[in-house]
Amino acid sequence: MSATELTKEAIRDRVRALGDWFHNINLRGVQTAPAHFLGDYPSVKWRTFAHALPADLAGKSVLDVGCNAGFYAIEMKKRGAARVVGVDSDERYLAQARFAAEVAGTPIEFRKMSVYELPALGERFDLVLFMGVLYHLRHPLLALDILHEHVVGETLVFQSMLRGSPETRQVARDCEFWEEEQFAAPGYPLMYFVEHKYAHDPTNWWIPNRACAEAMLRSAGFEIVNHPEAEVFICRRRDGDGDGDGERSGASDGRASVAK
Ligand SMILES: C[S@@+](CC[C@H](N)C(=O)[O-])C[C@H]1O[C@@H](n2cnc3c(N)ncnc32)[C@H](O)[C@@H]1O
Repeated sequence: MSATELTKEAIRDRVRALGDWFHNINLRGVQTAPAHFLGDYPSVKWRTFAHALPADLAGKSVLDVGCNAGFYAIEMKKRGAARVVGVDSDERYLAQARFAAEVAGTPIEFRKMSVYELPALGERFDLVLFMGVLYHLRHPLLALDILHEHVVGETLVFQSMLRGSPETRQVARDCEFWEEEQFAAPGYPLMYFVEHKYAHDPTNWWIPNRACAEAMLRSAGFEIVNHPEAEVFICRRRDGDGDGDGERSGASDGRASVAK
């Protein structure tokens, strides 16, 4: 029997058998994570920026990196995307995603893959979602560089947990060695390192403030074109490195060192 024909009771049993869910998805009346600590997540988040993405994705290819149980991948397919691929490093979440997409009747390709392995896909996608993954990475800037160099064709939808100051400020392009004041300014790009756990979660590594998230996106070669919600940035891929000034092209640890 295909998943689209399962009874509500059978869906409930499969949802339970697939373990704890992070995504609360409504599978024909069965909620997969009704007690989520963030409420009806990620629906509550999606509602805040859904308007900022094209309502019609016909002909477009979409990659959802860190897709979890596939909530956003399913939404992209519902908007008519020609092809949707979801990748996650955790097989348990991918099993949930396969089931959710089947019940929803939205054909999506799911693959077990880390963001660092994405060059192996050998493909660029029109739209790439990179939501809620950055702070789970030990090497966040490397991931953004990989997305820029190998994966994003046009648009990157980026979301991150942010902590610290929500301010942004114009930071001088350079400053003298003895000039230390700027580091204490609230809008200076900062990323907090989590040595052990944050919110009981040992997979949290780095949490940027807003200025840092924006600066990292620019540095990796993305132009922020929309900021529809505090944590969400819609970006356009620029050709070339950084913000296009070429200043870093000769740097010893520049983006050119990203593995092919
Ligand atoms: C907080 S959840 C976000 C899920 C979804 N993108 C969202 O915004 O609702 C983080 C997801 O990233 C996945 N993840 C963590 N490290 C990853 C990596 N190195 N490569 C790919 N996925 C990763 C986790 O397994 C998890 O599904």
